[in-house]
Amino acid sequence: MEHQKTDGPIVRVVNLTKVYGSGETAVRALDGLSVEVQTGEFVAVMGPSGCGKSTLLNMLGALDQPTEGTVWVAGEDLSKLKNVDRFRARTVGFVFQLHNLLPTMTAQENVEVPLQGQISSRKERRERAAHLMQLVGLADRCDHLPGQLSGGQRQRVAIARSLANSPSLILADEPSGALDSQSSDEILALLSDLNRSQGTSIVVVTHDRRVAQATQRILRMQDGSIVSDHRITDPLEEDLRMFAQSQFGQTLLENSRTLHKFIEEQDIAALRLLLQEYDDGAEVSGETSGSSTEA
Ligand SMILES: Nc1ncnc2c1ncn2[C@@H]1O[C@H](COP(=O)(O)OP(=O)(O)OP(=O)(O)O)[C@@H](O)[C@H]1O
Ligand SMILES: [Mg+2]
Repeated sequence: MEHQKTDGPIVRVVNLTKVYGSGETAVRALDGLSVEVQTGEFVAVMGPSGCGKSTLLNMLGALDQPTEGTVWVAGEDLSKLKNVDRFRARTVGFVFQLHNLLPTMTAQENVEVPLQGQISSRKERRERAAHLMQLVGLADRCDHLPGQLSGGQRQRVAIARSLANSPSLILADEPSGALDSQSSDEILALLSDLNRSQGTSIVVVTHDRRVAQATQRILRMQDGSIVSDHRITDPLEEDLRMFAQSQFGQTLLENSRTLHKFIEEQDIAALRLLLQEYDDGAEVSGETSGSSTEA
């Protein structure tokens, strides 16, 4: 199956606002957010809990309606979609933390589900699903029920399912959130690989710095807005940037008294000079605390 042909950005969001509820209890989950994602980009969305990441992803997948603003995906204005089911089935693929596989169906049958209505021949559907199971490294687990798979394997099945109809855009909400670091690395490698080999555009919400660093661009959100938009150029530079913004890096920049026990004065000075270069200040807030993957 071919990717749907798209010229220009795969995602274009203009002045997107989402208010849940009304009156006293109204929550402004998205607050006039605008952003573009280019076709073929692999983008991470980060930010503190409640800042609107999942809300944004739901809007991109036409799972929810904006209060204000416009979302275009693959050139289509989502408020004017004639066939929302078709859009959800063909243009986007979802991967959620709770992968909600159907427990009574085998892994391969789960992958087949979205193909119903898209491919009429049962045999072709089976072949396609088997191919996808192979793609995610689970060719030998096709006949297992979800309950017989590990968390990481289930997540890979969910990814295979999200790929069933060759979507132009994959939306992943903390796909490795519930996994140990090795399974998390596998999921990440799989997404990177899809992005590179198939040119699939991917937007991944993550709290994990390592996941974010493996993408090409990091959007940071706060209070329903994007507060920083940063392209990753050089992995080493990115490591230093992350280090500079970590609690440790910030401590080093501000106050290194305790470190004198371990490092020579001149090394601290050199390190501080290096870190200063990557500490662009704008990205510090909300990012240095609460991360579950601080080294
Ligand atoms: N259906 C809803 N009804 C009312 N408020 C909601 C609803 N969904 C989300 N919210 C509120 O909107 C805000 C943004 O929620 P969202 O789920 O997008 O956050 P998030 O960035 O994904 O957080 P987390 O990292 O915890 O998943 C939160 O304050 C949340 O309480
Ligand atoms: Mg969320």
